[in-house]
Amino acid sequence: MTEEIVVCENLSKRFIVGDSVVNAVNGVDVTFHREEFTSVVGPSGSGKTTLLNLIGTLEIPTTGKIIINGIDLSQFSTKDLTDFRRKNLGFVFQFFNLVEGLTGKENVELPLIFDGIPYEVRQSRVNEIFKEFEIENLQNKFPEELSSGERQRVAIMRALINEPILLLADEPTGNLDTNTGQTVLDLFKQLNSERGTSIALVTHDLAAAKRAKRILHMHDGKISFDQKNLDEEPEGMDEK
Ligand SMILES: Nc1ncnc2c1ncn2[C@@H]1O[C@H](COP(=O)(O)OP(=O)(O)OP(=O)(O)O)[C@@H](O)[C@H]1O
Ligand SMILES: [Mg+2]
Repeated sequence: MTEEIVVCENLSKRFIVGDSVVNAVNGVDVTFHREEFTSVVGPSGSGKTTLLNLIGTLEIPTTGKIIINGIDLSQFSTKDLTDFRRKNLGFVFQFFNLVEGLTGKENVELPLIFDGIPYEVRQSRVNEIFKEFEIENLQNKFPEELSSGERQRVAIMRALINEPILLLADEPTGNLDTNTGQTVLDLFKQLNSERGTSIALVTHDLAAAKRAKRILHMHDGKISFDQKNLDEEPEGMDEK
C-alpha cells in the first residue's frame, strides 16, 4: 500500500442543538493513502459530509485527531488551518461554488492569487491545466454561460490547481443529470489513474461509488464497512 496521507484517530464530531445531541461522526479510525480513490456512502444523516469536512479542516473535531502528511493538525490555530487547507487540500461541491463575476480562467486562478503566486506563473499554470483537460473553450466564459457539467469541470480544475494532497468532493454529481454525472465521474477516474490524484468522494449513489477502488460505508457516524481493492476483483465476481 502507498504512503499514508490522512490518518484519522478516534475522530468524533458532536453537534448540540437545543436539548438534542447528535454524534455526527462517532469514533472513526480511518487512513487514506496516496493515489487512492475512495468513495464514502451511507444513508442521509450518517455523517458523510461531517467526516469530509473534518478531514478538510472545515470542521474542528470534538475529540480525536487528524494527521495529514505526517502533520498533526490538533494544535493548529484557525489561521494556520486556513493556510494549511488552502495549500494542501482541494474541494469540489455539489453546487460548484464558482465566483459569478469571474471567468472560468479567473476562477481557477483564484487559489493561486490567495497563495501569492506571481502573475506569470499563474498564467502558465492555468493555461496548462485548461489545455491538459481540453477545455480551453471554457476559459473566457462566465459561470452563467456554462452548463452544469462545464461548471463542475471548471470547479474541479480550480480544486486541482494547487496540486492538493487530497481532492475532497461532496456529492459532485448531485446536481447533474445522469449522463453529465457520468462524464464528471469519468474525469475523477481519469485524474486518479493518469495523474495519481488522491480522491475522497462522498455520494449517495452506489453505482457512482463503485468507480472508486475503495468504498467506506457509513452508518450512524461510524464506518460500518471498509470495502477495499474494488477494481482488483477478477471479472465475473458479482455473478456467482
Ligand atoms: N452544523 C450542524 N449542526 C447540527 N447538526 C448537524 C450539523 N451538521 C450536521 N449535523 C447533523 O449531523 C448528522 C450527520 O450529518 P451529515 O451532514 O454529516 O450527514 P450526511 O451523511 O452528509 O447526510 P446527507 O446524505 O443528507 O448529505 C445529521 O444528523 C445532521 O443533522
Ligand atoms: Mg452530506
